[in-house]
Amino acid sequence: MSTKLQGVRGMNDLLPEEAERWEAFEEIVRDWLRSYGYRPIRTPIVEYTKLFSRGVGEHTDIVEKEMYSFEDRLNGEHLTLRPEGTASCVRSVIEHNLIFQNPQRLYYSGPMFRHERPQKGRYRQFHQVGVEALGFAGPDVDAEHIVMCRRLWDDLGLDDVELQLNSLGDAAERATHRTELIAYLEKYQDQLDEDGKRRLYANPLRVLDTKNPALQEIVEAAPKLIEYLGEASLKHFEAVQALLREAAVPYRINPRMVRGLDYYNRTVFEWTTTRLGAQATFCAGGRYDGLIEQLGGKPAPACGFAMGMERVMLLWQEGLDAGPLVSPDVYVVHQGEQAAPFAFRSAELLRSAGFAVVFHCGGGSFKSQMKKADGSGAAYAVIVGDDEAAAGQVALKPLRGEGEQQAVTPEALVELLADRLYGE
Ligand code: HAM
Repeated sequence: MSTKLQGVRGMNDLLPEEAERWEAFEEIVRDWLRSYGYRPIRTPIVEYTKLFSRGVGEHTDIVEKEMYSFEDRLNGEHLTLRPEGTASCVRSVIEHNLIFQNPQRLYYSGPMFRHERPQKGRYRQFHQVGVEALGFAGPDVDAEHIVMCRRLWDDLGLDDVELQLNSLGDAAERATHRTELIAYLEKYQDQLDEDGKRRLYANPLRVLDTKNPALQEIVEAAPKLIEYLGEASLKHFEAVQALLREAAVPYRINPRMVRGLDYYNRTVFEWTTTRLGAQATFCAGGRYDGLIEQLGGKPAPACGFAMGMERVMLLWQEGLDAGPLVSPDVYVVHQGEQAAPFAFRSAELLRSAGFAVVFHCGGGSFKSQMKKADGSGAAYAVIVGDDEAAAGQVALKPLRGEGEQQAVTPEALVELLADRLYGE
């Protein structure tokens, strides 16, 4: 017996019912992005590995242990399936000189890959909608990103969401804090776990991010980055908060939020919920003023965020009725040698007029075809037998609600349907 083929663990199929919901979500998201003036950018799924090691950071979990990296068999190049979209977006913007004159508001969506342990809300192939504003320095863009998120959650009817906010300051402030933090953590070196010891010198901020309950007390009392912020960083952070208060967006300052990627400075934020268990963060981002230069571009400020689509969909679907979102207007049922080509042409005529039409394929009795028509969710069946075809007519039968069956020519059918579906 041959073994059954299966999809790769942590990489999911979206079956039609769910895929339709995703498409509905994507339409809402596209309108929302346009309403804020964001334009699409599409970059490849595969990039050179060094883009992420340099961009996301050598000592992040993502680069250390989660990337799908491989050597191209043909030329030995080191390649990686993108674990996130910001580095690719910045690479593309630099490569094509996009912010040479004007700042850019960009967005992307698509699959990302991280080799994590799969569980509810955490997958190895997942999808993000990402938003990046490149070339903007002021706190207004940081606030714009947060406010636009809030609007989307409201449009989707998501409740039970919380905004956590922090500032990571600038490079010099972080360096001072880092020195002090290392000195502080060194005192507890024996008590640190494996990860903590490994990160102590490489990425001490990440030590604070530990979920290990045994370390909470140590972490709690550690020097907080926010206490090391200089005037300019504090002013920026204050201005972001003022704009949020103005827009009536509630937030909670979480001085221990550090984010899992190294490129951030100043504002960072995460949207969390209690509804997704351990995978509480469904959208996150912040400012990354150093990344463009770090990846070889002319220095320019930037900020952005990305939402995990699977997580947002889990939250959104809770509030939705089940059942197909998309049904055809018409299901065409036919039987007989003359009837088939006539029905086929009639279906095309209806589509030319803008209706969504499913043509029955595969034969069967009228009765079984009508069952399929009903199950399709269509509002009407169009029925064609050889007698109707000989008379140049089809029968229109309502599948939902009241109404008699009516025989008409295909041309008259277009008008009749328009009237029934869209008329008063
Ligand atoms: P991130 O926090 O790594 O940030 O990911 C953003 C979101 O993607 C997370 O909040 C989560 O909802 C979702 N996500 C991450 N990993 C998984 C996974 N394994 N399974 C399901 N969902 C996941 C970034 O990626 C940054 N590029 C965001 C950004 C854009 N910052 C500035 N611009």
